[in-house]
Amino acid sequence: MLLRRVTLHQLKIFLSLARHLNMTRAAEELHMTPAALSIQIKQLSGTVGAPLHEQIGKRLFLTETGRLVYAAALDVYDRLERLATEVAADRALERGSLRLSIITTAQYFAPHFLGAFCKKYSGIEATLEVANRDQLIERLKQNLDDLYIMGQAPDHLSVVARPFMENPLVLLAPADHPLASQRDIAPEQLAQEPFIMREPGSGTRLAAERFFEKHNIRLKIRMTLGSNEAVKQAVAGGLGLAVLSGHTLTLDAASGAFAVLDVRGFPLRRQWYVIYPAAKQISPVARAFLDYITKEGASRSPATGD
Ligand code: PGA
Repeated sequence: MLLRRVTLHQLKIFLSLARHLNMTRAAEELHMTPAALSIQIKQLSGTVGAPLHEQIGKRLFLTETGRLVYAAALDVYDRLERLATEVAADRALERGSLRLSIITTAQYFAPHFLGAFCKKYSGIEATLEVANRDQLIERLKQNLDDLYIMGQAPDHLSVVARPFMENPLVLLAPADHPLASQRDIAPEQLAQEPFIMREPGSGTRLAAERFFEKHNIRLKIRMTLGSNEAVKQAVAGGLGLAVLSGHTLTLDAASGAFAVLDVRGFPLRRQWYVIYPAAKQISPVARAFLDYITKEGASRSPATGD
């Protein structure tokens, strides 16, 4: 029995026949001739491998197999109906899921955007993954998430990268540092200062390295730490200066532990990007989040000491 050959068209015709138990009326309902209807039913019966109806006197009855096919056809059409409702709900953002992967520094703002978005669309279930750049690129290659947030698009992959918010990098010092009260500090003045750096591969570190290379300054790196919070603690503890995203200061702005130094060329101007593979068909939910964060991001800027 090659049931996979059964077509939706045949099931639809059979449903009509089973409801009317009358060839002519079923054909009328479907705007086809009784002969064409009869051919389709014969083909269906041939595929199933047993008669689906029988004529006794003037009346038409379903056979036992016919009743099984009728129940199955109802199931199939029921499922398609539900699918139509689900797709409509998805489009209307009444339900659906959003998988977002973000780079470490984005954890200072991305949950906020995501929280507000989920509040607006309460039927949406969101998951948020925080990872370093290498892990994020690996996830992107494997197409594990709907969207990615990072400070720089990977240049060796074909992606769509939409900038949505500024990411100014500031030069951070402990509040009581002698340079804290100076204005217009020349970058060269920093050459003798110990620096706390983020780990290799961090977008923040990369941007800082580029800046100092451009000014031919070899930094004295006292320590390399793998998280923004650890770097901030080291700076607050007086171990050195650091270049960090202004977003990392959002919660400490009023703490008085840090000073943002007024160094020429700072803040370094970077952008945050929402990224997805160029070939990806992004879901209606992901599209809505993309539009939401682009609109909201434009109106937000973190502390830069400007
Ligand atoms: P991070 O910053 O990699 O230093 O956390 C994000 C980025 O700038 O890409």
